[in-house]
Amino acid sequence: MVFDYIDGAADDEVTLARNVSRFRDIELVWDALVDVDKIDTSTTIMGAASASPFFISPTATSRLFHPRAGELAVARAAHAAGVPYACSTLASTSVEDIATVNPGTKWFQVYVWRNRALVKDMLERAKAAGFGAILLTVDVPVAGNRERDGANDFSIPPKVTWRTATQALAAPGYLWDLVTTPEIRPANFAHIKIDGGLIGFINAQFDQTVTWDDARWMRENWDGKLAIKGIATPADAQRCVAIGADAVWVSNHGGRQLDTAPASIDTLPGIAEAVGGAAEIILDGGVRRGSDIVKALALGANAVALGRSYLYGLAAGGEAGVRRALEIMDSELRRTMALCGRTKLSGLTRDLIFQRTLA
Ligand code: FNR
Ligand code: LAC
Repeated sequence: MVFDYIDGAADDEVTLARNVSRFRDIELVWDALVDVDKIDTSTTIMGAASASPFFISPTATSRLFHPRAGELAVARAAHAAGVPYACSTLASTSVEDIATVNPGTKWFQVYVWRNRALVKDMLERAKAAGFGAILLTVDVPVAGNRERDGANDFSIPPKVTWRTATQALAAPGYLWDLVTTPEIRPANFAHIKIDGGLIGFINAQFDQTVTWDDARWMRENWDGKLAIKGIATPADAQRCVAIGADAVWVSNHGGRQLDTAPASIDTLPGIAEAVGGAAEIILDGGVRRGSDIVKALALGANAVALGRSYLYGLAAGGEAGVRRALEIMDSELRRTMALCGRTKLSGLTRDLIFQRTLA
């Protein structure tokens, strides 16, 4: 059930599959006989230095995937890799605790809540804990329909039913960790009583009347960097620029919200053209290989965010698993750049993408 929560998506999971498969449809070409002895993957993302053009995308309740390791493990692994760490609003560890293990670049993901005082308070806490940017997620006006979760009776925190109990008993190590560590819940809202688990919390607290005026309110109430996460059209990308966002984040929430949405990589070129350099462009959705990063940068992204790619590592191996996932991504990126004959990220340009002349 935990694997399905990570691996699954909305409805028929069409968008999830397409996010991955459309990267495979894109063909790379290379420059031959180029000196590729020194590959440089360093960059800046929203003003922060990063060793690589990828970083940790915000994902809810990391302790669910590894009850002992959780957010602290991911934040440590990101810092060790020299890449930014983004913390979800629904994190199972507080921003203050995360800051104690990661003195590097940290960003905080927010939704617009019904309770504005809560948002203001959260922004102040994030700022005080050293989180330098907020990421406003705009593709969750309501929770998506995750059918695997329903079939598993899965909820956060898990409730005891025969389905969840039989699955938990089949994983005694996980169960032991779960019952011997603090209850998994949104740790940044420890003072709020939560009924109906995470989905109940989302539906009770997320404001379904939110509009661009609220995004503007967010901009005015935050003097750090601001990215708007969950953009799928050039028109919305231009709205992000108009309100002063520092980054437009092309995403469909990993296919977990509106199913049959187009693959992120397919919407990127039009959005990059509409933004025209007026803001940075971040892309997520389906990035599983270093070559996917090369394709995203060649098509106009400044950086990519990783979701499931590090979550599988976290669930399988805690901090070591996340470190390994990030190492694999880094080495694949370097190898792909060398094979393409490009040594710098600025060299990852559109001409690397093969234009078919035969059908
Ligand atoms: C997410 N994502 C997400 N996004 C967000 O803004 N806030 C959140 O709390 C979460 N939670 C979350 C949980 C899980 C288990 C997953 C898989 C994803 C979306 C995430 O940030 C990102 O947009 C996608 O995961 C990107 O797609 P890939 O890389 O997983 O294909
Ligand atoms: C998810 C929500 C919580 O994708 O963002 O699971």
